[in-house]
Amino acid sequence: MKKKRVAVLISGRGSNMASLIEAAARPDYAADIVAVISSRSEAGGLALAAAAGVSTAVVSDKGLDKPSFEAALDARLRDSGAEIICLAGFMKLLSAAFVDRWLDRILNIHPSLLPAFPGLHTHERALAAGVKVHGCTVHYVRAVVDDGPIIAQGAVPVLSGDTADTLAARVLAVEHRLYPHALGLVASGRARLSGDRLTVDGLAATADAVLMSPAP
Ligand code: GRF
Repeated sequence: MKKKRVAVLISGRGSNMASLIEAAARPDYAADIVAVISSRSEAGGLALAAAAGVSTAVVSDKGLDKPSFEAALDARLRDSGAEIICLAGFMKLLSAAFVDRWLDRILNIHPSLLPAFPGLHTHERALAAGVKVHGCTVHYVRAVVDDGPIIAQGAVPVLSGDTADTLAARVLAVEHRLYPHALGLVASGRARLSGDRLTVDGLAATADAVLMSPAP
């Protein structure tokens, strides 16, 4: 099996990045993590990646306008030979031009069941809205933030007494299972896009693409 070369973009703690690196260490996994690129030099994820033997780089936008920042990012990605980009807590908005250059090759994980709660503070907003089911989504990236064809979602119950922190922790545990699952589907070619429609080989997309977490 020829593994797909994947670069992970981070800005912070990198726990989702770590889950992808761990999955990719399995010989039967369809992707290799060839680079971790952070927009911030202080990102905790950089040390985790280095400890796992993955090549790391910092591409900061300090002093750069958006086109120059994205050109620098693009150059790093091309140097790494990346075929797929996974955003994992990457806190920079990518322009339509960048997304177009990498169209259908950028994945993102978002801590809500999209299209509910795009943007920040998803757990606080889920609690305020009183939803009883919350979760996370891995989707292809489009120019609109937290939009794009959904590859997989994982759901958790919202429990009475939850705070944003307890809910976030429950969702994060599912994120760490969901992202490797979704990247595996894409990298192996089992999940494919035609236009904005996702098909998954060998199963009903809706059956395998949902990863439900049991109530604790
Ligand atoms: C995760 O909750 C992810 O869904 C969101 O940002 C957070 C990043 O956490 N996009 P980590 O850096 O992966 O630990």
